Amino acid sequence: MAFFMEITYVVFSVLCFCFLLLRWNEMRYRKNGLPPGTMGWPVFGETTKFLKQGPNFMKNQKARYGSFFKSHILGSPTIISMDAELNRYILMNESKGLVAGYPQSMLDILGNSNIAAVHGSAHKFLRGALLSLVSPQMLRDIVLPRIDRFMSSQLSNWDGKIINLQDHTKEVIFLSIMDQIASIDPASRRADYFKTHFFKLVLGTLSLPINLPGTNYRNGVQARKDLLSMLRQILEERKASNESYKDMLSCLMKTDENKYKLNDDEILDLELTLMYSGYETVSTTSMMALKFLHDNPKALEEIRKEHLAIRERKKTNEPIDFDDIKSMRFTRAVIFETSRLATIVNGVLRKTTKDVELNGYLIPKGWRIYVYTREINYDPFLYTEPLTFNPWRWMEKNSESHNYFLLFGGGTRLCPAKELGITEVSTFLHYILTRYRWEEVGETKLKKFPRVQAPNGMHMRFLSN
Ligand code: HEM
Repeated sequence: MAFFMEITYVVFSVLCFCFLLLRWNEMRYRKNGLPPGTMGWPVFGETTKFLKQGPNFMKNQKARYGSFFKSHILGSPTIISMDAELNRYILMNESKGLVAGYPQSMLDILGNSNIAAVHGSAHKFLRGALLSLVSPQMLRDIVLPRIDRFMSSQLSNWDGKIINLQDHTKEVIFLSIMDQIASIDPASRRADYFKTHFFKLVLGTLSLPINLPGTNYRNGVQARKDLLSMLRQILEERKASNESYKDMLSCLMKTDENKYKLNDDEILDLELTLMYSGYETVSTTSMMALKFLHDNPKALEEIRKEHLAIRERKKTNEPIDFDDIKSMRFTRAVIFETSRLATIVNGVLRKTTKDVELNGYLIPKGWRIYVYTREINYDPFLYTEPLTFNPWRWMEKNSESHNYFLLFGGGTRLCPAKELGITEVSTFLHYILTRYRWEEVGETKLKKFPRVQAPNGMHMRFLSN
């Protein structure tokens, strides 16, 4: 009997302790004027549930508390906003105390002068410098010819091969970026060096900021140093040489011609930003576009027609140009539909720099706001049959200018390289579509949250057309 009493006592104590722990976060963040929601455990909050259940966690909380609720995820008290109109308002009003709010690990590894870390005039300046690198003229004269040459040579000799598209798109897109920003030869030892350190950097930006040996965070911080030191070496070599280059680095170095005069450190940080920002979005879109096209023969036929028509106008091996890219209307539609249906970007993060009133609530200074845009993509009132891959929906006039079009963000941080991203995916698709047919080998398992991934790879067999 005494034994059972003891067990009951222990269980009761544990339950009380858990209850108190759960209440602790609720009490700590109890403040008048906050929206409803739950805060979970001390320190961890609801991060585990959020990462494990993903979109279902969001849906369940929305069912309980509406489309604007509080939580504690990724180490911060956070407001989650799933309301399309409110999301747009938040993105448009950075100057009202709603600045970019990316996790500490990302800021530490990408640098404090990184575009995501700054706001106000510093952001305007860096954004201007970046926009000058991806202007229509730069795309036409410098960037597209490089992308074209690169894709045409890299996407060859695939006949009869089984390719793990997930690994390949990552590698091809990363190497193409290195070619655009610093003319790095993809077969060189430098390219290998960049690849190795870059993948460590990416892992580090998505880790908990624990600076202990062996952690992804520590490796990421070290990878930043290694990448910057190699980029600096390239910069110094260029200064000492008379050779002229046609790439982004050379444009940034022409301080006499360039309106945005950056010092060496700023140039290197911007190169790192370009490497990081465009890599995952473009590679995942390229991979998923091939998957959706494989699964939807009618769309595949239509897009192939568009690309073969372009090839027919050209001599063998003639590169595609800016006018060809502009003429690819169906391809653009395929890219948007892929981005929507796969939800390549689930949302963006903001942080309050003062107490801010939103939706009738008072959000305290220092809280994060997760502008969650995923739900918009599957809203049947906005997209008929939202779970169907239907690129034709984007052929309608003004489909890109709807208020709820947030695939590339919105407001002051709207993706500055949207057209560059579309050009990269379009060129990738051009050389695949005009050279090969492909079939899936085995069944691809897809993980959709927090990032689109094929945990066991995406294997496709390619055959020449
Ligand atoms: C299909 C491809 C792409 C998608 C879906 C995409 C999506 C986005 C989104 C949603 C944002 C908003 C982030 C925010 O509000 O915090 C953004 C911003 C940004 N993107 Fe892209 N992006 C793509 C391609 C690229 C490429 C190729 C680059 C560069 C080479 C790039 C560079 C950036 C940068 C630097 C920002 C931050 C802008 C700022 O803070 O002012 N993106 N992108």
